[in-house]
Amino acid sequence: MEQRAVVTAGTGGIGLETAMGLAEYGLAVTVVGRDAERGARAVERIAAVATGGGPRFVAADLASLGSVRALAAQLAAEGPLKVLVNNVGAMFAERQQTVDGIEATFAVNHLSPYLLTELLLDRLRDGGPSRIVNVTSAAIRVARRTFDAVEPPGGYYAFHWYGRAKLANLAYTLDLAERLRGSGITVFAADPGGAATDMTNGTMSSPEIVSPALRLLWPLVRRTFERSTAGPASVAARPSIAAATDVSLDGQTGLLIGPDATPVRAFRGSTDPRTVNDVLRLSRQLAALGGGR
Ligand SMILES: NC(=O)c1ccc[n+]([C@@H]2O[C@H](COP(=O)([O-])OP(=O)(O)OC[C@H]3O[C@@H](n4cnc5c(N)ncnc54)[C@H](OP(=O)(O)O)[C@@H]3O)[C@@H](O)[C@H]2O)c1
Repeated sequence: MEQRAVVTAGTGGIGLETAMGLAEYGLAVTVVGRDAERGARAVERIAAVATGGGPRFVAADLASLGSVRALAAQLAAEGPLKVLVNNVGAMFAERQQTVDGIEATFAVNHLSPYLLTELLLDRLRDGGPSRIVNVTSAAIRVARRTFDAVEPPGGYYAFHWYGRAKLANLAYTLDLAERLRGSGITVFAADPGGAATDMTNGTMSSPEIVSPALRLLWPLVRRTFERSTAGPASVAARPSIAAATDVSLDGQTGLLIGPDATPVRAFRGSTDPRTVNDVLRLSRQLAALGGGR
């Protein structure tokens, strides 16, 4: 029987390269994005390397919780799942709200993957042994570790808010791995390092995206960022592909797969019990699992 994989934001950047890697491995890959033309182009490229079932595109705006729920319902109705790669991520130069009235960085980088994952757990169980891969970022190191509310106190600094949302998602990911231990579903975080993609091109053009303290070091910050995001997306996809398919990871769970596609130690703050509890509480409150938003 066909083994199914889903890659969110899989029509461009690191997600497309990840989808190609999974298709080459033999999985029937569904890529999710907003733009149908981009989706069609991605499917052509994935089909050219696929060795198993044919790829396809499904449209969904992962900034909308309603759209995430509809996507989950469609995917769940179609049967067991072998791999879910929550690759979607975004950084917004200006503060934005989603259609749900939630700050967009937190919604796209954490709530959306959280909700999709939770709604697909039964199907991943049916497809077991199966894997969940959540894409993280080194930006978690500049995160403010307070999760009493969606938005941290103080001003909007895109890079820090992005890191904070990714930290929320990493804390959720590592906790989920423990929750699912022995269930047949294993859970990994993957750090792509960096790549030149739509997300990074032009991102570091303004010092406004970092806090006033870090602005003092702006030339250094910018140079470091530019250097670390100069490589191709095909290389940055390797950690996600390894997390989803590498047989040496069979039976293991809760690992962070680093930029060189091998396990690395996770940032200490991601397992802090208070962070985990606050993130879970916020997630349940904003994206109720029994229905609601
Ligand atoms: N690039 C880096 O250096 C870097 C470093 C660390 C971590 N990461 C993480 O790696 C992941 C991939 O990053 P990337 O640089 O490849 O990003 P990207 O280039 O911005 O990704 C583009 C893809 O995202 C889709 N997308 C964007 N917003 C969407 C939405 N609201 N709903 C559905 N699809 C959406 C786009 O499709 P449509 O346009 O059709 O919607 C397209 O397929 C993210 O989680 C990112 O945070 C990246």
